[in-house]
Amino acid sequence: MKKTLYSTAFLFAASLLGTSCNSSGTKATTTISKDSSNKKWWKEAVVYQIYPRSFKDSDGDGIGDLKGIISKLDYIKSLGVDAVWLNPIYSSPNDDNGYDVSDYQNIMEDFGTMEDFDALLKGMHERNIKLVMDIVVNHSSDEHEWFKQSRSSKTNPYRNYYHWWDAERGKPNYRYSLFDVNHDAWKYDSASNAYYLHYFSQKQPDLNWENPKLRQEIYSMMRFWADKGVDGFRLDAFGFAAKDTSFPAFPKGFEKNFMQYYAMGPHLHDYLKEMNQEVFSKYNVMTVAEGTGNTMEDAHGMVDEDRKELNMAYPFEWVDIARPEGYSILHLKQVFTKWDSAFADKGWMAVFLANHDQARMVSRFGNDKPAFRELSSKMLNTFILSMRGTPYCYLGDELGMSNAYFSAIEDYNDVATLNEYEHQKQTGGDLKKFMQHVAFTSRDNGRTPFQWDSAVHAGFTTGKPWLKTNPNYTMINAAAQEKEANSCLNYFRKMVKLRKDNPALVYGKYTLLDKDNPAVYAYTREHEGRKFLVLLNFTAKDANVKTGVDISKGKVLINNYGATVVSEILKPYEAVVIEL
Ligand code: GLC
Repeated sequence: MKKTLYSTAFLFAASLLGTSCNSSGTKATTTISKDSSNKKWWKEAVVYQIYPRSFKDSDGDGIGDLKGIISKLDYIKSLGVDAVWLNPIYSSPNDDNGYDVSDYQNIMEDFGTMEDFDALLKGMHERNIKLVMDIVVNHSSDEHEWFKQSRSSKTNPYRNYYHWWDAERGKPNYRYSLFDVNHDAWKYDSASNAYYLHYFSQKQPDLNWENPKLRQEIYSMMRFWADKGVDGFRLDAFGFAAKDTSFPAFPKGFEKNFMQYYAMGPHLHDYLKEMNQEVFSKYNVMTVAEGTGNTMEDAHGMVDEDRKELNMAYPFEWVDIARPEGYSILHLKQVFTKWDSAFADKGWMAVFLANHDQARMVSRFGNDKPAFRELSSKMLNTFILSMRGTPYCYLGDELGMSNAYFSAIEDYNDVATLNEYEHQKQTGGDLKKFMQHVAFTSRDNGRTPFQWDSAVHAGFTTGKPWLKTNPNYTMINAAAQEKEANSCLNYFRKMVKLRKDNPALVYGKYTLLDKDNPAVYAYTREHEGRKFLVLLNFTAKDANVKTGVDISKGKVLINNYGATVVSEILKPYEAVVIEL
């Protein structure tokens, strides 16, 4: 067990958060008619994800903030995106950078005030950009008033807001914690001689969703934000909210179906339906869950329209493919194709290759060596923006920002990385190997400050940045790319526009071509009489593709080499979209 979970922790528990949706559990529902005619703004939207801490600092404290985002709203608008998913901005002691909320209806001091938030929302709406809030309710911070009350005594009215196990009953059955130094999700609390559960860090106690009072508090908090006019919610780690609270011992081999045991409990759909009724149904909001459970059926259960739960979810299976030792393009194609076909007739998914929980997209799926970084970034953005599903683009990926590859533990900030380092140290692990591993995988790779220009600290802050800036900012930055017609940034804008102008790229049927080609990912998207061919060379060498169509007759709509005529021999990391 240790071994599986060890690597899981490194890759930010990818399998834990939904990758374990392996083919074994897949049973795509095909009985209900296609809902692609069922057009929705959230299917057509391109979502841009902002990790506020890393985007733009307005006051020189080294931490990105809301005023910083406000100052960059025209930049965001210029990308052509429709919505912004903002990572948590609520009051928090920042054990996990805002994913440990101490007050759900207040703004984190580092980020600003509620007035700043209102101004941000207004500024976004004036520009026709929607705002999706991150809702972190599998757990709160241990500094939330609910938890302070809860831990104070066994009879406190908030006791049942969390999961407690009285020590008189002995030690509870082992539960793994993602971010705990000892990997132990039960923390003994002497105040009431009991253990509390924390799937994440000790400062992130799990909330007890079986308590209807807690649920109503959460819905009312969500209505507070919806009443302010926010346009959507992303549910953080929500699969974990529903668990077997009798906390039985797990049978041997349970790791293979981790989510089945740790999450996706029998009440999950009751909670989501109730949340839908109490909140979503009353507003025009989009909803997206992190993770899809253990099987395709789990995923369908959350997002199919007739379920009246959520609009979409994002699967983790594909982000898990890229490993430090490389990955198989055939595997990548197989996984994306599997997900597309499972949702071809019913339901909807998010499409992404990176977020704040992943190292940089180009470093993992592309090639961040100088010769290929730009080309492969463009190729990957072509991919995300031409697939079926709502694309989520992570800040900096429009510039081709790459991994920082920190070598000293002192350079890291992420609780997952730091606590696992401590764990390795305490258990005699190979620290050199660990450091090599996190240099590639740590979430901090994706969190280094946004590279605005070539000024000190990349124009992110006038102070000392909370996380070191990637030194390549002098070369890779937005200001330089603004000036260059063929930069990553301008290519990204063109690609977003191409998607927005062509509903086939949103709704069109996806067909994989040249399935066994180990280098090229080729597919068509077809909708209402229009057909687009996408060719993507995922390698650093020339590669042949057999599409079975005469591509010379097609019209090249975008190409990352700037070519207007292409052949079936693709250059390294070449990407092209052709209308046939
Ligand atoms: C989600 C977030 C991640 C956070 C964790 C605990 O996976 O995306 O950043 O650490 O939940 O809230």
